[in-house]
Amino acid sequence: MKRVAVLISGRGSNLGALIAAQDASYKIILVISNVEGAGGLEKAQQAGIATAVIPHGGKSREDFDAEMDAALRAAGAELVVLAGFMRILSDGFVRGWEGQLINIHPSLLPAYKGTRVHERVLAAHESESGASVHFVVPELDAGPVIAQTSVPVHADDTPETLADRVLSVEHTLYPHALKLLANGKVRLEKGAAAFTA
Ligand code: GRF
Repeated sequence: MKRVAVLISGRGSNLGALIAAQDASYKIILVISNVEGAGGLEKAQQAGIATAVIPHGGKSREDFDAEMDAALRAAGAELVVLAGFMRILSDGFVRGWEGQLINIHPSLLPAYKGTRVHERVLAAHESESGASVHFVVPELDAGPVIAQTSVPVHADDTPETLADRVLSVEHTLYPHALKLLANGKVRLEKGAAAFTA
């Protein structure tokens, strides 16, 4: 049973899915938000999970990350899951959690890293998009992919309808990927995702 901390900034629909999918492989022991009043905090509290708000305002990136790192270590976190966490993490923080830190991104990585993904997918007239769970490395959205799910792009999609379709597959994909990691079926090895049956 791996002790998991989840970092959020917003509504936390992925957090909700991760809470609902808990089983013998992982237990969420802490939810940290950098934004006070983030909707996900209430989801955690309703599930009886400890929460912390660590605002980033007025702090250097390094100081903010050091504060989060201390909270994660104090709680005995073994895996750290980013779920709509809207801050770039310092190289030091990322290295300190190497192989234990994952993120979900609403595109079929390595395509469409960064923000405004759905707008760009639609502007490029893609027929397919999706979601990816990846190990976090210092370069943004560039870490090895653990699992992906694709969805069709419809001709009449707006960024909102496409975002909803992608989000609905995220809610199955993220628990699946976290369980692969928690059960030792995937690990970060020499900069690549290594899988065992
Ligand atoms: C998701 O689309 C995820 O891919 C991205 O941020 C969004 C978070 O949504 N990284 P939620 O807060 O989990 O509802």
